[in-house]
Amino acid sequence: MIDIKKEIAGLLSGCIDGMEAAEIEALIEIPTDPSLGDYAFPCFRLAKLLRKAPPLIAADIASSLGGSGLFEKVQNVNAYVNMFIDRKAFAAATLSEVAAGGDDFGRSDIGGGKTVIVEYSSPNIAKPFHIGHIRSTVIGNSIYKLYDAVGYKVVRINHLGDYGTQFGKMITAYRRWGCEEDVRREPIKTLLSYYVKFHEEAEKDPSLEDEARETFARLEHGEKEETELWRWFREESLKEFSRVYDMMGISFDSYAGESFYSDKMPAVLEELREKGLLQESQGAQIVDLSQWNMSPALITKSDGSSLYITRDIAAAIYRKETYDFEKNIYVVASQQNLHFQQWFKVLELMGREWYKDCVHVPFGLVSLEEGTMSTRKGRVVFLEEVLRRAVEKTREIIIEKGVNTDNVDETAKTVGIGAVMFQELSNNRIKDYVFSWDTVLNFDGETGPYVQYTHARACSVLRNAGADISKLSARDLDLSYVCGDAAYELVKLIYRFPEIVADAAEKYEPSVVTRHVVDIAQAFNKFYHDEHILTKNEDEKNAKLLLTYAAMQTIRNGLALLGIKAPEKM
Ligand code: ARG
Repeated sequence: MIDIKKEIAGLLSGCIDGMEAAEIEALIEIPTDPSLGDYAFPCFRLAKLLRKAPPLIAADIASSLGGSGLFEKVQNVNAYVNMFIDRKAFAAATLSEVAAGGDDFGRSDIGGGKTVIVEYSSPNIAKPFHIGHIRSTVIGNSIYKLYDAVGYKVVRINHLGDYGTQFGKMITAYRRWGCEEDVRREPIKTLLSYYVKFHEEAEKDPSLEDEARETFARLEHGEKEETELWRWFREESLKEFSRVYDMMGISFDSYAGESFYSDKMPAVLEELREKGLLQESQGAQIVDLSQWNMSPALITKSDGSSLYITRDIAAAIYRKETYDFEKNIYVVASQQNLHFQQWFKVLELMGREWYKDCVHVPFGLVSLEEGTMSTRKGRVVFLEEVLRRAVEKTREIIIEKGVNTDNVDETAKTVGIGAVMFQELSNNRIKDYVFSWDTVLNFDGETGPYVQYTHARACSVLRNAGADISKLSARDLDLSYVCGDAAYELVKLIYRFPEIVADAAEKYEPSVVTRHVVDIAQAFNKFYHDEHILTKNEDEKNAKLLLTYAAMQTIRNGLALLGIKAPEKM
C-alpha cells in the first residue's frame, strides 16, 4: 500500500531546504475537521530555519505542492498547509490493494518469520472453566492472530494449571466423598463440589489439610495411585476444555502445563543456589526481592514442594531453549502483576538477559452483577453455559426477526458465540467490566452481530448484482463514482486497516481492531443508505460494487483477526 504520509513528506522535503523527510513526516497532522484537508503541515518550526513568517512559508509550500498529482487541492490557512488528497487516485490505490490482497489484505512482514510465543487461556484442571477465563482465551487468541498477521511464527501455549497443592486436596476429597460415575458424567462440576466440600470440612477438621499436603507430596514423588487419579482428573478436564475451545474455534500448539515442568525444577533450584540467590526462611526457600520493593519469591515450601513461581521460571527457561523466542507473551489477569514482576526479576538476577523479551499482557477483572466469583464457595458462571445460552438466545432472535439464513443452527452459533467474543474484545483489555446478559446479547449498537450483519449485507449486495468482482479492476473503472463524502470516508478507513493491524499487535491490544471494524461497518452503512449502489449506470454500479467488495473483505479480515466468523447470509 502506498504510504501517503511518506509520499507527502517526500514532496515537502523537496521544497524545504534543511529539514529531513523523517522529521517532516513526524510533523504531518491529520486534522479532525475534514474541511481543513486530509493532511496538514504546520510551519511554525520552519520560521527560524527559513527566517520567514510561518504563514508566508505555508503559502509558498502550498503553491509549489499544488502541481502534484497526489492532491486535489492544497491551501494554506495561516501557518498551516492543508492538503486534500485526490480522491480518485486514492480510491484506485486502495481498492486495487484490497483486491490483490483478498484474505491477506492487512497482513505484513514486520516480524520477518521470527518466533513469538503467546501463552493464553491456561485454566486450572478440575476447576471450572469459568467466565473469568474467557478473557485470557479470547484476547490471547486474537493476539496470536495479530502476530501471525504481521509476519511472526507464533507458538500457542496453554500453560494448564495441572499441578500444585490443590491436587492434594482434590485427591483427598475424592477418596473421602468421591463417586467415580459422577466424575465421569460431569467431571468438573463434580470435582468442584468435592473441592468446596473439602474447604468446608477442613474448617472443622484442620487435619484434612495435613492429609492433603501429604497426598500432594506423594504425587510429586510419582506414587502410582495418586498419579493415576491426577492423570484421570486431567484427562476428564481436558475433554471439557476442548469442547469450549471447539465452540470458539480456538486451538493450541502445546498443552505443556505446570506439571510438564516438574522434572525441570531441580535444575532451576540448583542454578539459584549456585548463583547465591536462595535464602532459607522458616524452612522455605526464597529469593529476597526487598531491594526492589517486592515481597520475596517463594521457590519451595518448607515441606520441599515446588511452587507456581518456580514452575514459571522453569517454563520460561525451557521455552527459550526450545523455541529461541523473540518474545514470550503471557496473557494473564492483572491480579497476577506482582507474580510476573517477581519472577521476571528472578530471571534477571539469574543473568538471563532475555528476561526483557518476556512480556506480561494483563487484563482487567470480570465480575458478575450479583457479586464476585469464588471457586472455593462454588459461586461461578461456567463459560460453556454462557456460550450455550448465547447461542440459544440468538436462535430465538433469529427466528423472531426472520433473519435470512439457510441454516438457523449454524447462524445461531456463529452469531451467538461471536457476540460473546466480540464484546470481550471491545474495550481496552485493562478495563474491569461487569458481565451482563443484556450487554452481551444487545444486537444493536457496536456489537459483533451488528458488524456481522453489515458484512452479510455487503455480501448480499454483491450477490444480487451477480457481478464477478475478480473481473473488476480499479484501474479500468471510473472511480469518480466513489469520491462522494460517504464513500471517501469508507475508503480512508479501509486504507488504514494494515496500519491498524500493526498497531494492535505492537500494543497487544485487539480492541484497536475491534473499534476499527465497527468504524468500517458504520461507514459502509452510511454509504449504503446515502447512495444507490445497484444503479442502471453500469460504470457507476461497478465502481460502487468494487468499494462494497473492499468493505466486505476488510470487515471479514478484521473479524478473522478477532477469531470471529463472518457469515455471508444473516
Ligand atoms: N492457571 C492460572 C489461573 O487460572 C493462570 C496461569 C497463568 N500463566 C502463567 N504462566 N503463570 O489463574
